[in-house]
Amino acid sequence: MTIATPVRRPVLKTPLPGPKAAEILARDKTHLSTSYMRPFAFVPDHGEGAWLTDVDGNTMLDFMAGIAVSTTGYNHPHVTKAIAEQAGKFMHVCLTDFPQAVTTDLAERLVRHVERPGEKWRVFFGNSGAEAVEAAVKLARHHTGRSHIISTLGSFHGRTYGALTLTGSKTKYRRGFGPLMPNVSHIPYPNPFRPALGATPETVGDAVLSYLEDTLFKTVIPADEVAAIIIEPLQGEGGYIVPPADFLPKLRALADRHGILLIFDEVQAGMGRSGKFLSYQHFDVQPDIITMAKGLASGMPISAMLAKESVMTWTPGTHGSTFGGNPVAAAAAMATLDLLDGTVKHPGCGENLMENARVVGDFLMDEFWKLRAEFPFIGDVRGKGLFIGVEFVDAAGGPNPKLRDAASQAMFERGLLNLDCGESAWRLSPPLILTKDEAAVGLDIVRDALRSL
Ligand SMILES: Cc1ncc(COP(=O)(O)O)c(C=O)c1O
Repeated sequence: MTIATPVRRPVLKTPLPGPKAAEILARDKTHLSTSYMRPFAFVPDHGEGAWLTDVDGNTMLDFMAGIAVSTTGYNHPHVTKAIAEQAGKFMHVCLTDFPQAVTTDLAERLVRHVERPGEKWRVFFGNSGAEAVEAAVKLARHHTGRSHIISTLGSFHGRTYGALTLTGSKTKYRRGFGPLMPNVSHIPYPNPFRPALGATPETVGDAVLSYLEDTLFKTVIPADEVAAIIIEPLQGEGGYIVPPADFLPKLRALADRHGILLIFDEVQAGMGRSGKFLSYQHFDVQPDIITMAKGLASGMPISAMLAKESVMTWTPGTHGSTFGGNPVAAAAAMATLDLLDGTVKHPGCGENLMENARVVGDFLMDEFWKLRAEFPFIGDVRGKGLFIGVEFVDAAGGPNPKLRDAASQAMFERGLLNLDCGESAWRLSPPLILTKDEAAVGLDIVRDALRSL
């Protein structure tokens, strides 16, 4: 006889915030940087799978994974064991000066995911997404001897000076911080739902390419002075946007015509979230440089900048980082990759977590399209795997950030941790161990929250 496992649901024991959370929030407000945002009154205490419990014992279902980071949840036993074992050996010596077996293993494993026949790639390790982006841009300039970088509107690449200059999503990130890095320009991201340049969903990809080649390269940016184009193959913070299928291959061809390097920023969409190891692998295209971070080590700070061997021509001492490639974080990354590629199986998640992201993501996407039929203010549902964007619109089809914010808060109050993105979109970026049953619980909450608006 099989006994059905009861479906778990959020448990809210106190109004949010509860007394302990309120006390910490008050101290947090007094002592921490005024730049931190606090969109929700939630103070985590511990995690279990795709669930987080706060300091007052309120348990929430997690549809945000600490901004697309906690690939395997918040404390997966396979990952915590790897961390403890490595911490028991040594926690730091400094990769810039000494090789470490675990980091060498990790580099070999990462390049296996990107190398095509006849290609060799190499890895530089940092601590954060922004650091990987900085490394990518420095390498591109150093290798090509050119200075210009092209980025996209709506993009997010980080907040250090170089990465901030590339970021094109909100003026608030830039206001008051100038001057930024010179020789950076932005082109529209090919967003089929809100096509720029007077294009249609079908023509927006070509319109963007033509704007770059036929306008910018002829008027203000000499193409032969462009080192690299940096782009998120699926745009994250800008709204979880999927470009037209032929856009990236055509961008590759354009870059090749001018000797320009192509950098794919996979910090948010990579590491299995889209159902493939890296999100560009949904398209027939190969970059020259790749950045990864966020979900790589399930929450331990590590980032990687991968480059073709033919491009990684900088010499010893030209770039480095004291903590980059930390062995404990690298061990956590190795354990995360075990679960992502199925070397270690997670119960209830099929062959591996990438497959789970595809299966549960397809389920959620279908269900959200059904919700769209019920709720006319859902204008668009898009994404791949567990990287899904839902756009809120007003009666005229324009962005509706007020309603999106109200929906997000209503979901939170019902026990669903969630995040927004773009001007009026909402992102689903749960841990990749989310099961279909848990996804269905989340959907019930979403439905109830949307009906309450
Ligand atoms: C695509 C992308 N690149 C870079 C970054 C910057 O990463 P970090 O915050 O780790 O510096 C982010 C962060 O959200 C991101 O989404």
